Amino acid sequence: MDLEEPHVETLVVHGGAGVDPQTGAVVEPIIMSTTFERDPDGGHSRGYFYSKAGNPNQSSLERTVATLERGAGGVAYASGSAAVLAALSIAGQGGHVLVPDDVFQGTIRLLRLSLSRWGIRFSTVDMTDSAAVRTALEPDTRLVWAEGLSNPLLKVTDIAQVAEIAHEHGALCAVDNTFVTPVFQQPVRAGADFVLHSATKYLAGHADVLAGVLVVAETSLLDQLRTLQWIEGATPSPFDCWLTARGLKTLPVRMHAHADHAAEVAAFLEQHPAIDWVRYPGRPSHPQHELAKEVMSGFGGILSFTIRGGADIATRVAARTRYFVNATSFGAPESLIQHVASAPTHGSGHLPDNVLRLSVGLEHPDDLIADLDQALDVVTQRA
Ligand SMILES: Cc1ncc(COP(=O)(O)O)c(C=O)c1O
Repeated sequence: MDLEEPHVETLVVHGGAGVDPQTGAVVEPIIMSTTFERDPDGGHSRGYFYSKAGNPNQSSLERTVATLERGAGGVAYASGSAAVLAALSIAGQGGHVLVPDDVFQGTIRLLRLSLSRWGIRFSTVDMTDSAAVRTALEPDTRLVWAEGLSNPLLKVTDIAQVAEIAHEHGALCAVDNTFVTPVFQQPVRAGADFVLHSATKYLAGHADVLAGVLVVAETSLLDQLRTLQWIEGATPSPFDCWLTARGLKTLPVRMHAHADHAAEVAAFLEQHPAIDWVRYPGRPSHPQHELAKEVMSGFGGILSFTIRGGADIATRVAARTRYFVNATSFGAPESLIQHVASAPTHGSGHLPDNVLRLSVGLEHPDDLIADLDQALDVVTQRA
């Protein structure tokens, strides 16, 4: 027991705003004001002057996420993509960025359509293969990008290894921790320089907020990031920060439930005759299960599988579920099912067209399994 080293469950509840000193409100008030009064001498000793450059709800969200991720500070953004853009543009400027070959497609699109216009080049590599990563580094590689778990195949990256390779080369290492969350893995502890989230997903946790957070391991780039955010205007609204901070209070409870439910669903799917293969890092069938056990304390709420049949049957399965909503995204209380090949964000053509991805939600796992069981009748009976 150590009062100075609280657990993640305690940090999410007490790591943010705390009791409001003015009113005694236990829950942080929402400060919607866009402008803040100056001091008589013209200063801003209370820390705020215009909400595009920061507001109290944003500050407490940033504090909580930075604490959870064991970083020195954080900046919250209006979306996860804005946080990705900030990390790539500040760390990759004037050089080359190395990203996983199955990185989130939005990150590839940012590199291809936006950052390339500013002279940032990129290439892709299998980030789980350390020899390949070393070979893919270029003399001007400034940033190596990793994801704790990849989408949709749930490949596991050894962050400590990638960070070491990047640092030996004089590059920085950024980790998109959206799938895993700080509940199960804290990349800064493994040596990452940046950790970022689409807070839209598990951090906010209720599919009703778009937000992002970028955490830095050291303070050196923090002021520059804050200034760029202010002048570029990718600031989240106070209400969205408040909703995200509220969602964070239940993050550990939700993540353990998501992971428990996903493990049960994966075990069910593995033995179902309609299924070819299942990828869930918590199952011994996952090719990197041993590594997953080493580097993360839980395996998240997302899994993928292929059914016996093609795109047509996969689409029909996704349309037949009752509790799994046929929708994109993940991290909500509602379970979601997505036919990967026809999703609007899908980009890697080398995946089979019968992959289905599940974001396993907070419903009772028996109900979720019953739901999948009836939907999979379409495969076994070709109904
Ligand atoms: C891994 C990952 N990173 C970043 C993003 C971008 O987040 P947002 O949709 O909040 O802009 C997403 C969105 O799906 C994601 O899955």
